[in-house]
Amino acid sequence: MKNARMVFAKRPLGEPADECFRLEEAEIPELEANQILVKVCWLSLDPYMRGRMNDVKSYVAPMEVGDVMTGESTGVVVKSTSDKFAVGDHVAVHKGWQSYIVCNDNEERLMKVNLDNGTLAAHLGVVGMPGRTAYFGLTEVGKPQAGETLVVAAASGAVGSAVGQIAKILGLRAVGVAGGPEKCRYVKEELGFDDCIDYKAEGFAEAIKSACPDGVDIYFENVGGAVTKAVVPLLNSGARVPICGYVSNYNDEDITKSESPFDILKQLDEVPEHRFFVVFEWQDRYQEATKQLGQWVKAGKLKHRESVGEGLENAPDLFRGMLKGKNFGKQLVKIADES
Ligand SMILES: NC(=O)c1ccc[n+]([C@@H]2O[C@H](COP(=O)([O-])OP(=O)(O)OC[C@H]3O[C@@H](n4cnc5c(N)ncnc54)[C@H](OP(=O)(O)O)[C@@H]3O)[C@@H](O)[C@H]2O)c1
Repeated sequence: MKNARMVFAKRPLGEPADECFRLEEAEIPELEANQILVKVCWLSLDPYMRGRMNDVKSYVAPMEVGDVMTGESTGVVVKSTSDKFAVGDHVAVHKGWQSYIVCNDNEERLMKVNLDNGTLAAHLGVVGMPGRTAYFGLTEVGKPQAGETLVVAAASGAVGSAVGQIAKILGLRAVGVAGGPEKCRYVKEELGFDDCIDYKAEGFAEAIKSACPDGVDIYFENVGGAVTKAVVPLLNSGARVPICGYVSNYNDEDITKSESPFDILKQLDEVPEHRFFVVFEWQDRYQEATKQLGQWVKAGKLKHRESVGEGLENAPDLFRGMLKGKNFGKQLVKIADES
């Protein structure tokens, strides 16, 4: 049995080409004391990974060439020398694009997964990091009040789909923005947003204005660029803008020179309350969020969808696709069966 791992082989300029990734095989070391071996079943592909490929300081250090590609996965413990984890336990762990993971039982981003809250796959999506991002970003930074209007883009995606549905649960009007008629139909008809506007269609700025007759109280920022420019003139006095990310710029050749949401907001006559947040700010409350998100999923109030690709060798292509909207829902890679 060997470990397959995807190594970061070259810094990209723009979209990461195949030469930026290298698939390697490695021996699986024998466990030392207080370690576990995890068979990875699901790997999550997330937009932040593109930022870690740049040699730019951010809230976390960039990857170095030769590192295993960063990422979170879920799987099953198949060997253990730990008294905290038994063989058969389900876990989520942040140790990169690999098929087998050896880690210490006190690893910072190693968590037991309770399947009562959702499937192993869902622990990388709606009840995992993206769901928690939606939950904390909206409730703590967006400060939602019933009756207000929220706009969120990438609305069919992992974070955006949860943001709009949680806003609905809290009594807000939720308006999504998504690419293409099929995603917009899904967001409105299946996820229950009040409206969803296609930013790729002509007349987007007019359409988003009509969808928000009382203006916008919370713009949950996921994408930046042209969408942000169309939405921010609609912000009401007292509006809040949680800045979660701006994926439309992630493949720019030099993101430090891109026009960020901060630059766009700065130009407004009345600059709204806004700040960038990172989900780990609420790391001590993850259990609360996972439980709440799981309850909403069970109650049918929080729906989700996954885009599943197979095999580590296909992860680079799936990753490139996710950054430009080929995914429909949370992008996952199936690495192995759960049984
Ligand atoms: N701050 C945090 O702690 C944190 C944590 C997780 C995620 N995030 C951020 O949350 C955002 C969403 O992440 P996610 O994991 O939920 O990804 P996702 O929405 O599942 O996938 C990315 C989506 O971005 C949209 N997109 C790509 N290019 C675009 C463009 N030029 N204009 C508008 N939309 C575009 C695409 O949807 P369409 O087909 O609809 O265009 C694509 O499906 C990202 O900015 C990410 O960095 C932040």
